[in-house]
Amino acid sequence: MTFLAELERTAWAVEQRLGELLAAGETVPPGGVELGEAMRYAALGGGKRLRPFLLIQSARLFGMEEASALDAACALECVHCYSLVHDDLPAMDDDALRRGRPTLHVAFDEATAILSGDALLTLAFEILSAPETHDDPAIRAELVLMLARAAGWHGMALGQALDLSAAHHDFSPEDIARMQTLKTGALFRFSCEAGAALGRADEPARAALKAYAGAFGQAFQLADDLLDAHGNAEALGKAVAKDAGRGKATLVAALGVDGAKAHLAGLVAEAEHALKPFGDKGEMLVDAARFVAERRA
Ligand code: IPE
Ligand code: IPE
Ligand code: MG
Ligand code: MG
Ligand code: MG
Repeated sequence: MTFLAELERTAWAVEQRLGELLAAGETVPPGGVELGEAMRYAALGGGKRLRPFLLIQSARLFGMEEASALDAACALECVHCYSLVHDDLPAMDDDALRRGRPTLHVAFDEATAILSGDALLTLAFEILSAPETHDDPAIRAELVLMLARAAGWHGMALGQALDLSAAHHDFSPEDIARMQTLKTGALFRFSCEAGAALGRADEPARAALKAYAGAFGQAFQLADDLLDAHGNAEALGKAVAKDAGRGKATLVAALGVDGAKAHLAGLVAEAEHALKPFGDKGEMLVDAARFVAERRA
């Protein structure tokens, strides 16, 4: 199957499973209805589902079926969706459009956006620790620990904090790369680490995937920043040309568009190189890195 067809198929599987995991329970108290609705609004009906894709493809390298990696992939997507809801809040990036629809705080209200983000984050850990995710409790505990580290105060949340402070300080290109490794890279690293953990991969394989994920995460955010500078809002489903106006520290601002594009090509090559030990089996992940650099939507 081609990469795009496989990505689309994975997105469909993730959508279905997330729909089940977020199904309205019959025992939801009256006050809980809007919260559940807001969580479904945030998590369903959009998104490329790239993080779940990477997780599932990483697990496949070690012989795991998609069905055995799907719940862990959905847990990760819950964290990603929460991060988008909070990223868009007025106190953060103050965005009104996400995945082609009004952002959650616009469609509902700010308090509901904060709470549904909190609840999606917590749900992720509920999913990871549930027996359906993996029959070995030690692997479930490993996944919980890895996701907590990836999302938390030494991972994505720290990166987001640096991103906000970057709007007020002069960051060097190295500082920017570090910030991006945290705010965006940490969840992509979890994708690959979780796939390896589910498949009980050995250390060299984990190290190779870690190197791939590091380059991939940087490439992803650099492409996102290039699309913010020159992309099309309708195709992207979110506003563009906002980073410069907000004084965000990005590599596009630091290196210029041509410099950023050259750096992006280098990161894709780095990601491809890291997958060499997997031979042909790594083809989907190679294509994912190329896709990220070339995408327009
Ligand atoms: C957007 O991520 C947020 C960033 C880390 C730049 P995606 O571009 O993966 O968003 P969706 O999930 O496809 O909407
Ligand atoms: C978002 O980065 C990173 C996270 C949500 C963790 P951006 O702020 O650049 O993402 P977009 O452009 O709003 O999707
Ligand atoms: Mg942001
Ligand atoms: Mg943003
Ligand atoms: Mg952006």
